[in-house]
Order: sequence, then C-alpha cells, then structure tokens
Amino acid sequence: MRTPIIAGNWKMNKTIAEATALVREMRRELNEIEGVEKVLCPPFTALSAVAELLQATKIKLGAQEMHCEEKGAFTGAISPLMLKELCQYVIIGHSERRKYFGETDEGVNRKVKVAFQHGLIPIICVGENLEQNEAGQTEEWVSGQVRAALDGLAAEQVKELVMAYEPIWAIGTGKPATAAGANAIIGLVIRGTVASMFGEDAAQAVRVQYGGSVKPANVVEFMTQPEIDGALVGGACLAADKFVAIARLAAEIKGTHK
Ligand code: PGA
Repeated sequence: MRTPIIAGNWKMNKTIAEATALVREMRRELNEIEGVEKVLCPPFTALSAVAELLQATKIKLGAQEMHCEEKGAFTGAISPLMLKELCQYVIIGHSERRKYFGETDEGVNRKVKVAFQHGLIPIICVGENLEQNEAGQTEEWVSGQVRAALDGLAAEQVKELVMAYEPIWAIGTGKPATAAGANAIIGLVIRGTVASMFGEDAAQAVRVQYGGSVKPANVVEFMTQPEIDGALVGGACLAADKFVAIARLAAEIKGTHK
C-alpha cells in the first residue's frame, strides 16, 4: 500500500519571519493528521528556521531545487550536501525550473541520481503544456519525461521516489485537470512507463502526486482516484487553513491508517 503524500511547494514566497509565522500557524494541526506524509518545501532561506520548528513533529521538509555538484564554483547554487543537513525531500524538474532556469531532462536525471547518493528523496515533476495537450501529445511527452528522468536508476530507487504529474496549463491557473484525466495519465502513462522500464512492482510502488490548482474544494475528487497518491500544492499551501484542510481530506480518503 502506498502512503499518500501531500507536499506544499511554497515557490518564491515567504521571508524567514513570514515562514516562521506560517509554520507556527499550521504545525500542530498538520502534525496530528495521520496516515499521510506531510512535506513543506519553503525557499532555501527559510529551510533552517522551518527545520527547527518541525523538530519533534512528523512533518517533513523539502527543498524546491538542488544543484548536482557537491561544492565548488557555482555561484548562487545550493548543493545536496547543504540540503541533506536539513531536508528529506527535494523537488526536481518543476516546470518553472524547466521554463525559467533552463532545466533539462538530462539535468533532472543527474539530480535525481545525486539526490539518492545523498539520501534525499526526489519529487520529480512532469507534465505537458497547453499546446501539447491540445495537439494530443500529452502521453508521448509525459512518457518521454519519465523515461529521461528515471534513466539508469535501480528499481529499488524508483520504488522510493515520488513523481508529480503537473500539467503546466493547470498550474496557478485555477483550472485543474479533471480528476479522471489526471488519474488516466498517472495510471496509463506514468505507471505504464515505469512498468516498461522497471517492472510492475516498481510501477505499483512509486508514489505519484497530482499538482495544479489543488485546493480544499477539489482535493477530494483527486484523492478518490486510485492512481493518485497525493498532491503537490502551490498557491493553496501558503494559507495554513487551506493546506491543513487539504492534508486532512487526503487522510480521510486515502490515509493508510484506515
Ligand atoms: P498551484 O501550483 O497549486 O499553485 O497550481 C502547483 C505547483 O506548481 O506545484
């Protein structure tokens, strides 16, 4: 049975003071929600303060990006050595990194491998844009991203990692994918591709989130789908009450304690 995972991608939001206030506001309620993994991904500058606030809780911490080298002349970059002191998870290949920062499939693959070398669990984002979606290229595109991201991994690693299906046209638009549509892409395309590369066991073990305009009002639809193991939440994770509500609803529907 796959443990559902609800992660909040704060993106470029919250100063340290604001991050601390947000975590204090949701920490107790979020921690009490059982049967789902809860992960906060604040910006790098707030990781340390948030890590301290999460000590003695079961809430996990993730980074939004990572450089693939351990150290050296890479001005402005953050290495896995720096993150492993603080985080359990790292988001890799978010569409905003691909679009604005030149992230490539090769870069994603390299970072995924490096994450494993340092004991960090990658949350690998894939998803098509509107043009691809309308041209009927979603399956081919997403399958290609999955293949590239997972190339050269071991099946045991694939069972550990998390993927997020995030159609780009659904991110930050208030227009989510349909739950059935996301379920189909995750089941047929993402798990299907994983199965062809690593076997059916790995395909059934890998956890796959849906992301793109998830909020309390629609999370139930997504969580009732069998192939969807949680959500990667952007905008709604910046409000304590909304993120707690999303995690609670996910736990009620597919929490492993049931
Ligand atoms: P959104 O972002 O929830 O604001 O659509 C999701 C994401 O980019 O991970």
